[in-house]
Amino acid sequence: MRRFLVCGLALVGAVFSQSVDTYVSTEGPIAKSGMLANIGPNGSKAAGASPGVVVASPSTTNPDYWYTWIRDSSLVFKALIDQYTVGIDRTSSLRNLIDEFVTAETYIQQVSNPSGTVSTGGLGEPKFNVNETAFTGSWGRPQRDGPALRATAMITYANWLIANGNTSWVTNTLWPVIELDLNYVADNWNQSTFDLWEEISSSSFFTTAVQHRALRQGITLANAIGQTSVTSLWSAQAPNVLCFLQSYWNPTSAYVTANTGGGRSGIDSNTVLASIHTFDPLAGCDATTFQPCSDKALSNLKVYVDSFRSIYTINSGIASSAAVATGRYPEDVYQGGNPWYLCTAAVAEQLYDALQVWSSQGSLSITSISLPFFQQFSSGVATGTYASSTSTYSTLTSAIKTFADGFIAIDQMYTPTNGGLAEQFSRSNGAPLSAVDLTWSYAGMLTAFEARNNTQFASWGASGLTVPSACQSYSGPTVTVTFNVYATTVYGENIYLTGSVAALENWSPTSALLLSSADYPTWSITVDLPANTNIEYKYIRIYNGAVTWESDPNMSITTPASGTYTENDTWR
Ligand SMILES: *[C@@H]1O[C@H](CO)[C@@H](O)[C@H](O)[C@H]1NC(C)=O
Ligand SMILES: *[C@@H]1O[C@H](CO)[C@@H](O)[C@H](O)[C@H]1NC(C)=O
Ligand SMILES: *[C@@H]1O[C@H](CO)[C@@H](O)[C@H](O)[C@H]1NC(C)=O
Ligand SMILES: *[C@@H]1O[C@H](CO)[C@@H](O)[C@H](O)[C@H]1NC(C)=O
Ligand SMILES: *[C@@H]1O[C@H](CO)[C@@H](O)[C@H](O)[C@H]1NC(C)=O
Ligand SMILES: *[C@@H]1O[C@H](CO)[C@@H](O)[C@H](O)[C@H]1NC(C)=O
Ligand SMILES: *[C@@H]1O[C@H](CO)[C@@H](O)[C@H](O)[C@H]1NC(C)=O
Repeated sequence: MRRFLVCGLALVGAVFSQSVDTYVSTEGPIAKSGMLANIGPNGSKAAGASPGVVVASPSTTNPDYWYTWIRDSSLVFKALIDQYTVGIDRTSSLRNLIDEFVTAETYIQQVSNPSGTVSTGGLGEPKFNVNETAFTGSWGRPQRDGPALRATAMITYANWLIANGNTSWVTNTLWPVIELDLNYVADNWNQSTFDLWEEISSSSFFTTAVQHRALRQGITLANAIGQTSVTSLWSAQAPNVLCFLQSYWNPTSAYVTANTGGGRSGIDSNTVLASIHTFDPLAGCDATTFQPCSDKALSNLKVYVDSFRSIYTINSGIASSAAVATGRYPEDVYQGGNPWYLCTAAVAEQLYDALQVWSSQGSLSITSISLPFFQQFSSGVATGTYASSTSTYSTLTSAIKTFADGFIAIDQMYTPTNGGLAEQFSRSNGAPLSAVDLTWSYAGMLTAFEARNNTQFASWGASGLTVPSACQSYSGPTVTVTFNVYATTVYGENIYLTGSVAALENWSPTSALLLSSADYPTWSITVDLPANTNIEYKYIRIYNGAVTWESDPNMSITTPASGTYTENDTWR
């Protein structure tokens, strides 16, 4: 099969796409049932999981994915909710499953976990046990994409319910969950997060992009159901998130840098997944939201795909303008650092989305940024706008369709005969590797197939947004806290405060905050601290430059959500 691809690519476009058609028709139903099999309690591979809980994979060792991730679950249910709402699957069994997902997530939101309680950061917890209890082992936390993706899935369902006369269910059942998630997003979008691969703690393009989308949709939903009293912070922050999103673009190398930290190239499937999961069919080729057909997203796609051409043995010998297997990022070593089914399918999906928009707008545009992408298909092509009546348009779109199908054909080539989709396939021989039956692999394949057959999903309001001229940062809500400490001192000795947050000078004895002795022997200070946050602190004495810390353990307070707080201590 590979030899055939290598030697005969130019000749086999038609044959190739026929075989992709065959794969879509056989693998589509397998992908759908593969998703359902991993959802508790009755999914055939999810026995023991609570109702509506998505198990990431039935694999329990090397790797152990017998957990439910908020990200994976929300992406899987977004795909199922899309199927229900557009009418691909309008069955009562799917409706019941969606309602069980809502019930499960409503419960999980309230489960206290190592990231906090529902009101002190717990919504950033990435994964839970499949019986809906907290996972307490060490992990890359928080991961702040989960609440945004969950809100987007539920808002998609909510919009359909409203259009079908069931607004009360939205207001009473969905809205409280959505509101908690979006308050979390609005409060925390400007805090560091682990990326979607759970490896790097910094800021991450995928996370920022899905947060932006969720806030915009939430504001629209709030307006539709008269819940506008809570959205002023969302409305104030959404433009700041969009502004920050622009900063990931690397103009020199013409790709999106996936993470602000991590010390890698930043070339990462993160950015392709962000483009397809924030696709808005009514937003044209808008580059500020990195729409799939935007010049920036296409340039980024080329850089991303090309980064895998020479590093995987299975890609060797493939022409430089033909599809190859792609993985998470070129530096990846996890489980051997192989191609992923869902990453390869995501490339196809971005291209199918782009073809859908060019077709509906009746033209495509080539800018200096996207020129190298288009030159892969026609080396002499120039910048400009090409109407669908031109031969340039026909040549390019038909080559891009073949290119897109090529990525599906790669996944097809390395899909075992039973159609099961693991997480990865070997970079050296294409054999399936790592977790079997990865729920997200199935969902990623299904959404690529839907994009291929032009299924139209709902717009989320990406059209016509303006990026503010200056980006504002946001440190989150604060509360006013007074610290009183009873401490007798000698003349010339003073009491200071320092602790675990910037407002308390991050444990620095040299810049600690001086307390007032106006009510001696009670020393006092009033400071603004992050709301809803567990903060550790200690008082220190300084006398003639000599620092004396209070004895252990560290003191701690959990600040309230709003208002003021007074802490009364005695020097230890
Ligand atoms: C799971 O199966 C049991 C037994 O057939 C049934 O009572 C229950 O309603 C099913 N649950 C779901 C969520 O479909
Ligand atoms: C839930 O699952 C965890 C992990 O498997 C297990 O340790 C715990 O005992 C379970 N709790 C309940 C209430 O079943
Ligand atoms: C509204 O949707 C919920 C959730 O599926 C359902 O239980 C309820 O019966 C619906 N109500 C109406 C009036 O359709
Ligand atoms: C917060 O936002 C500012 C302004 O966009 C940005 O420069 C900074 O990197 C952001 N920090 C984080 C952690 O998101
Ligand atoms: C489009 O593709 C999806 C996924 O394969 C499938 O479920 C759906 O029925 C297809 N729709 C049409 C109109 O072919
Ligand atoms: C108090 O906090 C500091 C800074 O995080 C830490 O180094 C120290 O170990 C803590 N002390 C105790 C007793 O936990
Ligand atoms: C500290 O003392 C003040 C005044 O006596 C009181 O209002 C406040 O509730 C006390 N704080 C706590 C946490 O007990």
